[in-house]
Amino acid sequence: MVEVELRGLLREFDDGTTVGPIDLLVRDGELLTLLGPSGSGKTTTLRMVAGFIENVHGGLLFDGKDMITVAPRERNIGMVFQSIALFPNMTVFGNISFGPDMAGWSREDTVNRVKELAELLDIQHLLLRKTSEISGGEAQRVALARALATNPNLLLLDEPLSALDLQLRERLQKEIRRIQRKLSVTTIYVTHSQDEAFAISDRVAILNDGLVEQVGTPEELYDFPANDFVATFLGSGNIFSGRIVEVSGEHVTVSVNDNLFLIPTSGNMGSKLTFSVKPEDVVISDSYSEGEIVANVVSIIPQVGSFKVILDLNGIPIIALTYDEDLVKRLRSNGNKLVTFSFRKDSTIILSD
Ligand SMILES: Nc1ncnc2c1ncn2[C@@H]1O[C@H](COP(=O)(O)OP(=O)(O)O)[C@@H](O)[C@H]1O
Ligand SMILES: [Mg+2]
Repeated sequence: MVEVELRGLLREFDDGTTVGPIDLLVRDGELLTLLGPSGSGKTTTLRMVAGFIENVHGGLLFDGKDMITVAPRERNIGMVFQSIALFPNMTVFGNISFGPDMAGWSREDTVNRVKELAELLDIQHLLLRKTSEISGGEAQRVALARALATNPNLLLLDEPLSALDLQLRERLQKEIRRIQRKLSVTTIYVTHSQDEAFAISDRVAILNDGLVEQVGTPEELYDFPANDFVATFLGSGNIFSGRIVEVSGEHVTVSVNDNLFLIPTSGNMGSKLTFSVKPEDVVISDSYSEGEIVANVVSIIPQVGSFKVILDLNGIPIIALTYDEDLVKRLRSNGNKLVTFSFRKDSTIILSD
């Protein structure tokens, strides 16, 4: 379809709020999600790509061709928004055929295309209904069919499922993924939900405060968050920040609120180091062995197949995940509020500041 490149794309609003500069490459046929909290710039970025915002700085390239000066309707983009804007007094058929009609397609081509999409999205039975007579989930299928009707090179989806209940959302996530793959249409998907982003995407770009913090596959982002924001936002770790107080061979000793951690990395004496450890890599035990650190148990939260144990280490909260039911039983029954913990080998992730 098309490869999309955002080169320092930026919009400054009158009140000084800035989204960008955004640098991003969306590969041909890829589904890339913009994920970030409310106000992080997801919609603005999508609207800059669509051409709906004036006075945009930077470059936008489709297959290497400059698009900034190209009018929105000439960009060959299909869009679906959170608030569905189907034409209310038209049938489902009328909604889907609107684009092809406007583009001057022959009646036969248009009808064939509508039928094809209706089959793909399983909405054949709705074609003659008014859009006021269909459900929210059906309306989003129709909106998707309408966006795809003229064979766009690029599909832009802005929180298309957020108005739907969880079950329907999960079903439509799978549908969107299946259709996107089948058509190989390059897609930029916007959501504030990590679960949704991780379920649907080839790659995810994490947005924060109008800027891209990190781009990667869901696994890369979760396993190797590039900084505090990404790690915290994705809940992928306990985050510790301290100063290096000793450097020795393969390790440095980091003091975090006067607690000493031995971390396998390099660094300079006195410099700051931020690292994260995933809850599943914090190993707890109720018998002391050398090298382990003692902490207080604050609470034990049962989860599906595991327990989340919240520890307090002299004011630092640490989250551990354990599958050891016997250990949890012992901790609960003997009122023992102390455990020892250690980090699994090679489990610390160094975060850049
Ligand atoms: N037309 C506008 N005028 C002024 N500020 C805007 C406008 N549109 C968006 N913003 C600001 O830009 C930032 C990003 O907004 P938006 O792109 O809607 O974020 P998101 O979609 O991630 O919630 C916010 O701070 C928002 O208030
Ligand atoms: Mg938005």
